[in-house]
Amino acid sequence: MTKTLHFAWFGAPGAHYWNLPSSATYDWRKGNLYMDIARLCEDAWMDMVLFADIPAIPTAYGGSNDHYVKHGFEVHLDPAPILAMMGGVTRHLGLGATLSTSLYPPFLLARMVGTLDHLTSGRTAWNVVTSASAAAAQNYGQDDLPEHDERYNIADEYLDLVRKLWDSWAPDAVLQDAGRNVFADPAKVTPVNFAGKYFKSRGPLTVPALPQRHPVIIMAGTSRRGQQFAVTNADMVIAHKNSVEDMRTYSTALRAQLLNAGRDPATCKVFFSIKPVMGDTLAMAQEKWAQNYAKAPPEAGLSYLSATMGLDMSPYDLDQPLPPDLPVQGMIGKLLQYTQAKKDMTLREIAKHEAMHETFPIVGTPDQVADIIEQTAAEGGADGFHFRTAVGDIDYLKEVTSKLMPILQKRGLARTSYAGTTLRENLFAF
Ligand SMILES: Cc1cc2nc3c(=O)[nH]c(=O)nc-3n(C[C@H](O)[C@H](O)[C@H](O)COP(=O)(O)O)c2cc1C
Repeated sequence: MTKTLHFAWFGAPGAHYWNLPSSATYDWRKGNLYMDIARLCEDAWMDMVLFADIPAIPTAYGGSNDHYVKHGFEVHLDPAPILAMMGGVTRHLGLGATLSTSLYPPFLLARMVGTLDHLTSGRTAWNVVTSASAAAAQNYGQDDLPEHDERYNIADEYLDLVRKLWDSWAPDAVLQDAGRNVFADPAKVTPVNFAGKYFKSRGPLTVPALPQRHPVIIMAGTSRRGQQFAVTNADMVIAHKNSVEDMRTYSTALRAQLLNAGRDPATCKVFFSIKPVMGDTLAMAQEKWAQNYAKAPPEAGLSYLSATMGLDMSPYDLDQPLPPDLPVQGMIGKLLQYTQAKKDMTLREIAKHEAMHETFPIVGTPDQVADIIEQTAAEGGADGFHFRTAVGDIDYLKEVTSKLMPILQKRGLARTSYAGTTLRENLFAF
């Protein structure tokens, strides 16, 4: 039987791809781009739009901001207010922001995400990251980030506190009883008085119980400790994997860990990144891919890798594979992605793929791409896919929504209605 899959649109609300032809119509700093993205995704029955965020212009590549500023990499807006705007022009689409447990005070985050969940009537997701950027830590007044696994220890406590803040109002606390002049029952609103190893917060939240109770929690870390964190906290994981075998290894291991922890594996959806290249014929699609690959500047990929792995990649030999023992303190999952199945790729090839935002290459006509998506989901154990792109590439979004999504829908691989009213209901409807 055909398994219906979930689809998300993933990118950073930033300058990346500022020089595409569509930037003549859309300025990435203006709301109309984001409102149109939201409308296009909802019209195509996607589950959600998800924004990446790194709140720092990195210095990782070459030791200064210069490369990133010159090319507009990691120059982006704060995702959270944009979601509010997108929520205003949609009724069903899920809306997610990446927010860091290493940077934001928990009360601030609980309140902001809670506000978004009310504004969107329960369509909010939070992509929890622990951050890999020392520059981001320094922007927030810290000398450096804590060590990799310790960041997850801190994040576990952070999630515990944030959930307690969201629960500080009972769902039936608000009465709005004009006859008795009672807004809410004080017995159902309780301070949390949280005092943990890392955080303290009094509570209660100023925001009454959320429409989803807890917004959808997304997680992208694939290191051993990252997976443990996902098993404890996530409703959905998003991963970059280069091959179907890597996807299967990851999804099988995650589901086994969920079971071991006493969770039904179906309570955590597994998404993988894709960015299909399509053409009217296979030859045209292949030609388009070859042109993209030829044009992709290795330096763009290297600077992205440097920022995500927290390691300056400029001194490494472009014509050698990545050493598996690189001293990565940032995103270990990124290192694993290129040192597991795809051991033979040189750093130049890796950098070009990263510059193209490509993890798992899919090339063909829209029909062929739909075949590959179906087969990849079945063999790799995916519940869904997120298109990994840049927000400025609205022509690509239009291509996906007008050419690919209708084929997926005709085959029963993508939804044609929203069953519920909240993101959580829609995500777990199948
Ligand atoms: C699809 C995907 C999207 C991610 N988006 C962000 C992001 O927007 N901001 C960020 O700081 N990290 C982002 N990351 C990094 C992860 O959230 C995580 O911090 C990183 O993988 C380190 O965890 P790990 O060492 O357990 O893999 C992303 C990772 C993946 C796979």
